Amino acid sequence: MDVISMSDFDETGIYSVLDAVDQVRKALHDHEYNRNVFQKKHNRPVEKLLEGILEATLFVENSTRTNFSSRVAAMRTGAMVDGFSSIENTSLTKGETWADTAAMFACYGFDVLVMRSTTEGLPRWTKEFVSNTNQQLKEQYSKAGIPFNYRNPMIINGGDGRHQHPTQCFLDLRTMLDIGNIQNIPLRGLPIALLNDIANSRVHSSIISVAPTLGLELHFAAPGRFGPRESQLEYLKAKGATFYNHGDDWEKAMRSSTIAIHSRPQKERVGKGEDLRTIKEWGCMTAERFQKLANQVPYLLHPRPVDSALFEEIHYSLRFHDADWSLFQASNGPYTRMA
Ligand code: CP
Repeated sequence: MDVISMSDFDETGIYSVLDAVDQVRKALHDHEYNRNVFQKKHNRPVEKLLEGILEATLFVENSTRTNFSSRVAAMRTGAMVDGFSSIENTSLTKGETWADTAAMFACYGFDVLVMRSTTEGLPRWTKEFVSNTNQQLKEQYSKAGIPFNYRNPMIINGGDGRHQHPTQCFLDLRTMLDIGNIQNIPLRGLPIALLNDIANSRVHSSIISVAPTLGLELHFAAPGRFGPRESQLEYLKAKGATFYNHGDDWEKAMRSSTIAIHSRPQKERVGKGEDLRTIKEWGCMTAERFQKLANQVPYLLHPRPVDSALFEEIHYSLRFHDADWSLFQASNGPYTRMA
């Protein structure tokens, strides 16, 4: 199955992915589990889970986590991986289109294309295009009387503009489930604060899209125009989701939640000439702020990267703070991408 949008998954599908993340995580770290449970269930050890699979990472927008955790996920499960991290060394700089670029990877026999784009909706369009490419090649090889068994490549969306970031959403949900397990509370009804640049974040957008399916209770807080988009609120209302818009009251949103998901102001989407000072002052989480919340400090998540140069959403004073679980969250990235 392709991984293009969280809206393509129902509750059972989501939980089966989250369970698979846990299985590969345990198998990688526990030799006995790998041999006695994982191997029996999957007919092979985790190190050979994706043996024979050829994966391409096609990133036209910068990435550390999504790109390299996808690559490490392939390497640690026996798949082969190659690709590009920017357009610089590709023929996109010669004027070749995205369509022709993707078609090349399809006709070279890659089974999986992990792609990041600035264009919303491009992963779904790419799926249709490479399916047609595969079909056309199959017919031409057949007419030429030459065998052809390359598959229609699976598309994994590594983020498209401010639209969706489904693999990040799965790793966020896995982290929420892990924290819920510590607290002995399920995801359904779990209060989650979404903070800072909600309007432009594909991470927040993905969580919003899946909140009604999983019954997450959302608490929004952001300065002014960075709050949730009207269309997002309408969507949640129409789906009967439970949510609270606390305006710019971060303290209320955090006190109301078990987990707070902070975010980086998306300066690449907000554009130049916008006043970003307000969001910098508002969004800088510090140890002092956490002291103010006393025993109501939520677990702090952040998809990272934290923009320390301009915004410092997680201040240095919070490094190694008990409540900051964003590194644990990031470490779930490779397991999620293996799953
Ligand atoms: N969280 C995330 O998507 O990070 P990258 O942009 O580094 O992939």
